[in-house]
Amino acid sequence: MTDANPLLEGLDSDRRAPPCVLVVYGASGDLTQRKLIPALEALASDGRLSPAFAVVGVARTEMTDEEFQARVRRAVPEASGAWEAVVGNFRYVAGSYTGDETFERLGQVLTELDEQVGTSGNRVHYMATVPEVFEGVTAGLGRHGLGEPRDEGSFVRLVIEKPYGRDLAGALHLDQAIHEVFREEQIYRIDHYLGKETVQNVLALRFANAIFEPIWNRRYVDHVQITVAESLGMGHRGGFYETAGALRDIVQNHVLQVLALTLMEPPATIDAKGIRDEKVKALRAVDIPAPDDVTIDVVRGQYDSGWVEGEEVPGYREEEGVDPASRTETYVAMRMRIDNWRWAGVPFYVRTGKRLPKRVTEVAMEFQDVPHLPFGSKETRGLGPNALVLRIQPDEGISLRFGAKVPGQAFRVRSVSMDFSYGAAFLEETPDAYERLLLDAMVGDPTLFIRADEVEQAWRIVQPIQELWSDDATPLARYGAGSWGPREADRLLERDGRRWRSP
Ligand code: BG6
Repeated sequence: MTDANPLLEGLDSDRRAPPCVLVVYGASGDLTQRKLIPALEALASDGRLSPAFAVVGVARTEMTDEEFQARVRRAVPEASGAWEAVVGNFRYVAGSYTGDETFERLGQVLTELDEQVGTSGNRVHYMATVPEVFEGVTAGLGRHGLGEPRDEGSFVRLVIEKPYGRDLAGALHLDQAIHEVFREEQIYRIDHYLGKETVQNVLALRFANAIFEPIWNRRYVDHVQITVAESLGMGHRGGFYETAGALRDIVQNHVLQVLALTLMEPPATIDAKGIRDEKVKALRAVDIPAPDDVTIDVVRGQYDSGWVEGEEVPGYREEEGVDPASRTETYVAMRMRIDNWRWAGVPFYVRTGKRLPKRVTEVAMEFQDVPHLPFGSKETRGLGPNALVLRIQPDEGISLRFGAKVPGQAFRVRSVSMDFSYGAAFLEETPDAYERLLLDAMVGDPTLFIRADEVEQAWRIVQPIQELWSDDATPLARYGAGSWGPREADRLLERDGRRWRSP
C-alpha cells in the first residue's frame, strides 16, 4: 500500500474545494477577467466549488460589490446556474496595495464572509497584479495578521504569479520578504504551463511506460528540441513586455519547467516532494553558461513587420507602448548542455518567440542513426532520424517517426509517423490550466507549483545571459514577423550539422 497520492487524487472526479475565500489582488486586471474568472466558473459548473465559496476582489479601481459582480458575470456570458449561486457572495475592496485601510477593510470583509457564507477562516490570497506590488501586499497582510490561519483547522495560502523577481537577486529578495509573513508550505508559485494536461503527460509517458524510459538518454538520443512558438504579437501588452522580454517572460519559467520534466529522473512517488526534488536536481545539472558561451550559444532576436496567418502586422518597435528604439528581445534560441550521467553530450536546443508562423509548443527528441544501414542511399532518400514528438499545444498528442518500406517492387524506405491525438483518444474535456491549478491551491496540493529552490535555480541559469544582454552592445538579430526566427538561430544548429524541425 502506498500513501495517498495528491496528483492521482487530482484525477478523482470527487475532488472538491473546501469552503474558502479566494482573495484576488489585481481583480480589475486582464488575468482575472480572461483566466481566473472563467476557470472558477468552470469549477463551479463542474460541482468542484463549495457552496461556501467567495471571491474578494482587491484593486485600485473604485467599484461597489455589485459592480464587481456585474464585471465577473460579463467575463462568462453563458454561465451555469451553479456559478450564479456563488457570484452573489463576491465582494470588492478598493484601495492602494500598501495602504493600511485596504487591509483593515479586507480583514472585516473576510470575517463577514466567514459569518455569512461559512468560509471557515480559509483563505487563498492570489497575486494577479504587476510584480512590483507583491512585496507591499505581503507586508500589508503580515501587519494585519492576515497571513496566519485563524485557528488550527483553517488555512491561509498565497498564490503568486510569474515573474517571480526580475533576476536571481530580485527572487531571493522577494523570497525573504514573503517568508517574513508566510511559511514555504503556504506559498504556491504558479507557472500555468504545469497546469497544462500535456505537460503533465510528459510524466505519464515517461514513468508509466516501460518502452520509452530505456531510450530516454545519451545512448540513444541525438538531441532534443523544445519549441514554444506564438503567432501573437503584443496587443496591449507592449508596456509590460518592454520590461520583460522573452528570456524573462517564457524561458526562465515555461521553457525551463518543460525542460526539467524532460530531463528529470524518475521520482520515487508522484507527489509534491518527489517531483519537485527531481526537478531541482535536473535544473542543477543544466550547465550555467560562461559569458563566452552566451555569445556563441544564445541568439537574441526581435521581429520586424511581416505577415502572420494571412495578416500584415507591424514590427515590434511599432507596437503600442514600445520604445521605437527598443532592444527588448521577442525571440530567444539557445543551445544548452546538461552535465549529468543521463544527458552528457546531448545538446538541448530551445527556442521561443512572438510573431512566429503559428502557435505551437512541443518537445521533440531526435534519435541517433542506426549503427549500420543495410540499404543504399537511393533507397533511403526519404528516411530521416527516428523522432518522438510530444505536442503540448494545440492538437495535443504524441507522434513517433520511424522508417517504413514504401509499397512496391523496389526496396525503398521512408519516414512515416504514428500519431496519437488526445482529442481522438479521450472523450473527457481537458480542464484549462488555471482550472486545475486554482483547485490545487484550494485543495492544498503544491505538486504543480514551483518551490523556492526551483525558481532560484532557474534564475541562476539565465543570469549570465541577462548580464551580458544588459550591455547594449550585444547584437539583436532581426526576423520578419511570420518567419521561424532569425537566420542566426538556424546557424546555431547548422554549426552542429542539424536543423530546426518545422512543427
Ligand atoms: C505567459 C506570457 O506566461 O504565457 C505570455 O506572459 C504568453 O507572453 C503566455 O503569451 C503563453 O501562454 P499559453 O498558455 O498561451 O501558451
